Amino acid sequence: MSLDLLSPGKLGSITLQNRIVMAPLTRNRAGEGNVPQPINAEYYAQRASAGLIITEATPISPTAHGYPATPGIHDKAQVEGWKQVTAAVHAKGGKIVLQLWHVGRISHPSLQPGNALPVAPSAIKPAGQAFTYQGLQDFVTPRALAIEELPGIVADYVTATKHALEAGFDGVEIHAANGYLIDQFLRDSTNQRTDQYGGSKENRARLLLEVTKAVVDVAGADRVGVRISPLNPFNDISDSDPQGLFNYVADVLSPFKLAYLHAVEGGMGDGATPDFDFNELRKHFNGGYIANLAYDKAKGNAAIASGHADAIAYGSLYIANPDLVERFKQDAPLNSPDQSTFYGGSEKGYTDYPTL
Ligand code: PHB
Repeated sequence: MSLDLLSPGKLGSITLQNRIVMAPLTRNRAGEGNVPQPINAEYYAQRASAGLIITEATPISPTAHGYPATPGIHDKAQVEGWKQVTAAVHAKGGKIVLQLWHVGRISHPSLQPGNALPVAPSAIKPAGQAFTYQGLQDFVTPRALAIEELPGIVADYVTATKHALEAGFDGVEIHAANGYLIDQFLRDSTNQRTDQYGGSKENRARLLLEVTKAVVDVAGADRVGVRISPLNPFNDISDSDPQGLFNYVADVLSPFKLAYLHAVEGGMGDGATPDFDFNELRKHFNGGYIANLAYDKAKGNAAIASGHADAIAYGSLYIANPDLVERFKQDAPLNSPDQSTFYGGSEKGYTDYPTL
């Protein structure tokens, strides 16, 4: 019998009622102090029929923030807020993991403690503008992290993971994608360090490996996933050899026996994407694999039936279709997402999409 999106499954120790995953989606609707609110719990609970929900990217420390109103996991009030979210999802039989996020240079002094410069592997300014509370503002040249500061960054991932477990999450996903801090270390356009965290791909992957080891030590490997985006140019990032780099990343993550590797299989937004073979990447990773980007129901079923992926993450479809699982089951028409309400605002375009 061949598997499809509706087949039950397992990623590490996380059992899935189906293989339809809600992708991490930034929605900028946290409350005062970047604390999750009842409306956020309602939003996630509406989507609890997914096999797995991955939360929106969640800053692990005050310096990890780069956008307005993104819910954090670095203080007590935030943990209490997230408890409401996990309780609401679990009450409806769902599973939810928290995505651990540090934005690195994709920030702005106005979003940093003490108006400090954002931090990055190297002092290289991204092209473009930051979303701030005062509107769009040009990115600034970040401050290169000193090697002595890196254990502190790893420690922030550990604290955030402890907080996530305390808040009742079923696991955590390390955000190593989309041009944020860990990806800035991985790729050679943003990492020009000359110490043991720069240069070779082995060195550029060192921070990801240290974070993974530390998070695994706290949560257990079977509750930890890692998200990568080998050819996403989003946030002004690139690499001279993405296939070699990310095959290596998959090789060195494999021995951890993680719950899953989650790959954004293309580019978001503008920008050229180099050749890349995701089937080849997949062969380098020993463990569960979640595929994401531009999948519909037919492509998702095909990827699962062929063994390419164990589950498929849907992003914008999940914004507009809280009952995506039921709609796939019934081959029902899908609501279209309204781009104008993706980032910020209240219930409009958030908790008011109709179910069947
Ligand atoms: C965004 O805010 O646009 C965003 C955040 C996290 C991602 C991707 C995009 O991984």
